[in-house]
Amino acid sequence: MDKIVIRGGKPLYGDVWVSGAKNAALPVLTAALLTDKTCTFSNIPDLMDIKTIYKLLRNMGLTIEGGSTVEISAEKITDCVAPYDLVKTMRASILVLGPLVARMGRARVSLPGGCAIGARPVNLHIKALEDMGATVELHNGYIEAKADRLKGAEIYFDLPTVTGTENIMMAASLADGTTVLHNAAREPEIVNLADVLRGMGAKISGAGTDVITITGVTSLDAVKADIIPDRIEAGTFMIAAGMTQGEINLMGCNPQHLEALINKLRDTGMSITPIEGGLKVSAGRKIQSVDVKTLPHPGFPTDLQAQMMAYMSIGSGLSVITETVFENRFMHVSELMRMGADIVIQGSSAIVRGVPTLYGAQTMATDLRASASLILAGLVAQGSTEVSRIYHLDRGYENIEKKFSALGADIRRVK
Ligand code: EPZ
Repeated sequence: MDKIVIRGGKPLYGDVWVSGAKNAALPVLTAALLTDKTCTFSNIPDLMDIKTIYKLLRNMGLTIEGGSTVEISAEKITDCVAPYDLVKTMRASILVLGPLVARMGRARVSLPGGCAIGARPVNLHIKALEDMGATVELHNGYIEAKADRLKGAEIYFDLPTVTGTENIMMAASLADGTTVLHNAAREPEIVNLADVLRGMGAKISGAGTDVITITGVTSLDAVKADIIPDRIEAGTFMIAAGMTQGEINLMGCNPQHLEALINKLRDTGMSITPIEGGLKVSAGRKIQSVDVKTLPHPGFPTDLQAQMMAYMSIGSGLSVITETVFENRFMHVSELMRMGADIVIQGSSAIVRGVPTLYGAQTMATDLRASASLILAGLVAQGSTEVSRIYHLDRGYENIEKKFSALGADIRRVK
C-alpha cells in the first residue's frame, strides 16, 4: 500500500491550479442515464471515485470515452443494478437510483451502508421517490425501486441532503407533472447539476436555494458542460498556505463557492485577495484561533472541518470546532494528537488548544478529508510524517503530493 512521507517546515509559495470538483462530477455523470443521447463533460478530475462511477455505469451498458473531457452515452442501458461490491467502495453510487427509476422504471441499488464518518442512511432519498409514486422495497441489503412513471410531488426533506437533492432533481426531470423540493440542499454542486439538466432540456428553477421546482418532460437531450472547480480542494490549499506561513496563487477556483471559509480564514489573520483567474492567499503573521461550526451550504463546509482542525492545532489560543452534519467526523483527532495536538472532544465539539509545534509521526488515514488534515499537519510538523492508507486521499484529491511539492513542500509518495 502506498504512503506519503513529508518533512515539515517548508513555507508554500507559487501557483497551484484547482481540479474539477469530485462532488459535482459524480452526479453530472449519472445524469447521462436520463437520455439516450451522448453527453460531453469537461474538467473531469482524475480520481479513484471517478474510475469507480465509470465502472458502475459501464456495467449498466453505458459507453464512456475520454479523460478530462468525456463523452458518455446511455443509448442502451442493459442492466439497472448497482452491485454491493462497487457501492461499498463509494456511497455516491446511490446517485444512479433516481435516474434509473426515471428513465427505466426500475432500479436495484445496494444500500451503501455506513462509512467512517457516520451511518449515512438514504431514507430521505427513498421516501421522496415513494412520494413520487415509486414502490420501494429493501431486500437482502438492496433497494428495489419500481415506477411505471414517476409523478410530480410536494417533497419535504427532514434535512438538506446533498445527494438526496441531486437524486430527486434528476428523477423529477422526467416525472409526469411538477415536483417542488422543500428544504433542498444549496451546495454549488447542485447548481452545477441543475445547469447541466437544464442544458439537456429539463425545466428546473430555484437550484441554490432551499426550494427547487422541477417540471417533468418526456425526454432529455444531449448536452456539453463543464464541471465546476473543487471548492474543497481549493480550501485545503488555502489552509495549507496559512499553516506553513506561505503565500500561494490559487488558480481556477471560484471565490463565491468559498465565502464561509474565506471569512473564517481572514479572522485567523490571513489575507485573501482576488487576482486575475483566482485568489492570492497569504498567511498572517500569527495564527489567530477561531471557533468553527459546520453547517449545510452556505455555512462552513463539513468537508473542510478536519483541515481547519489541523490549522487550529497550531493556533495562538483556544478554538471550539463543532460538527453538526455528521455524527462521527472526528476520526482525525486521535491522529493529530499523536503529532502533539492538544484536543479534547466533548460531544459534537472538539476543543483545540493551539500548541507551538507539532511533531512528525507515523499516522493512518481513515477517511478522505481526515487524510488531508494529516498531510497538512505533516507540512508544518518538526521532522518526518508518514500517512498510510492514502487510498482514502486518492479518492478525492488529484496528484495532491505533486501539487504540494510544486509549491515547495518536501513531500513524496512511497510504495
Ligand atoms: C455529500 O454527501 C458529499 N458527497 C459529502 O462529501 C459531504 O460531506 C456531504 O454531502 C455533506 O456536505 C457527495 O456529494 C458525493 P448528505 P451526502 O446526504 O449527500 C443525513 C466528501 O468528503 N442523511 O448531505 O451523502 C446524513 O446522515 C464527501 O467528498 C439522512 O439522515 O451527505 C448526514 O448526517 C464526504 N438521510 C446529513 O444528512 C438521508 O437520506 C447530510 O448528509 C440522507 C442524509
